[in-house]
Amino acid sequence: MQAWRVHTPGEPREAMRLEEVPDPVPGDGEVRLKVLAANVNFPDALLARGQYQIRPPLPFTPGVEICGETEDGRRVIANPTLPHGGFAEYVTAPAHALLPAPDTLDDAEAAALHIGYQTGWFGLHRRARLQPGETLLVHAAAGGVGSAAVQLGKAAGATVVGVVGGKAKARTAEELGCDLVIDRTGEDIVARVKEFTGGRGADVVYDPVGGDAYTASAKCVAFEGRIVVVGFAGGTVPAPALNHALVKNYAILGLHWGLYATKDPAAILACHGELTRLAAEGAVRPLVSERVPLTAAADAVQRVADGTTTGRLVVVPSLDGGSR
Ligand SMILES: NC(=O)c1ccc[n+]([C@@H]2O[C@H](COP(=O)([O-])OP(=O)(O)OC[C@H]3O[C@@H](n4cnc5c(N)ncnc54)[C@H](OP(=O)(O)O)[C@@H]3O)[C@@H](O)[C@H]2O)c1
Repeated sequence: MQAWRVHTPGEPREAMRLEEVPDPVPGDGEVRLKVLAANVNFPDALLARGQYQIRPPLPFTPGVEICGETEDGRRVIANPTLPHGGFAEYVTAPAHALLPAPDTLDDAEAAALHIGYQTGWFGLHRRARLQPGETLLVHAAAGGVGSAAVQLGKAAGATVVGVVGGKAKARTAEELGCDLVIDRTGEDIVARVKEFTGGRGADVVYDPVGGDAYTASAKCVAFEGRIVVVGFAGGTVPAPALNHALVKNYAILGLHWGLYATKDPAAILACHGELTRLAAEGAVRPLVSERVPLTAAADAVQRVADGTTTGRLVVVPSLDGGSR
């Protein structure tokens, strides 16, 4: 089969090579899946660069979530077992963790319903206890994880403020349903949030960016607000002053969605049921901005790494015409 592999970590476009390799062999409790669609996530870029918290043995194939087909013909969502990631024709994945792909979504959308939406749901509901009528501030609101949080926030009855980098992303955030969009490249986030909320600030902040985004969040979070630390796409891990959290009565909540797979797998299943229901009702729909062939996967990962994309770029092997 064909698979993209990283032999030496580096920038995705240089580090990833498309190669002919043997089909992966399922281990104990695993199944082999034909990849129908593999969604690009920021962690794929970090994996290629050797900067992710998980360092698979070299050479490895990136690609952390897919919609695939089982050997008995079921359409499922799965997290492939690294080093055999999703940017390939076939993967292996744990059988017990397969989730049914919703009928209302195509393969690319189904692949994109998983990590971003689960992370959003756990962040907003389980960690931050977002309430209807509260103000939710989402950084990188036009991105993969951010666009999911915007949709989930609206579905939960929150007023949603989206922060984005640039005019094109601002249009995307508006189309997603943000009540206010702030372009961080030309506007003062703190002043705009305070003005919009009558000086109160945001009740919940969803932050996949870190760095300056976190600094702004701490300045415009409301009394008894909650900042959910989701990621550091900006490249800087904030080192917040805890006296500030004490003085202003706000909470800083860490979120590592992957941990629920071992700590509370039943909650992942329940969340998938909820996401499937929301997708069927049309309350959420993954923003798939591009479907690209397998041959274009490294370029797609590089563009996500560069922070220039909106929504999700999804690799669809059948677009190459060569899929078995
Ligand atoms: N905690 C968890 O369990 C969990 C789960 C999944 C993902 N994550 C994290 O969530 C983050 C977002 O992942 P994603 O796949 O959805 O990516 P993404 O949001 O689609 O892409 C990253 C976005 O971050 C913003 N950004 C700001 N500074 C950047 C920089 N220097 N380089 C690149 N991007 C920059 C850009 O949006 P603007 O230009 O609009 O600011 C960019 O579009 C990642 O940090 C990822 O590791 C965490």
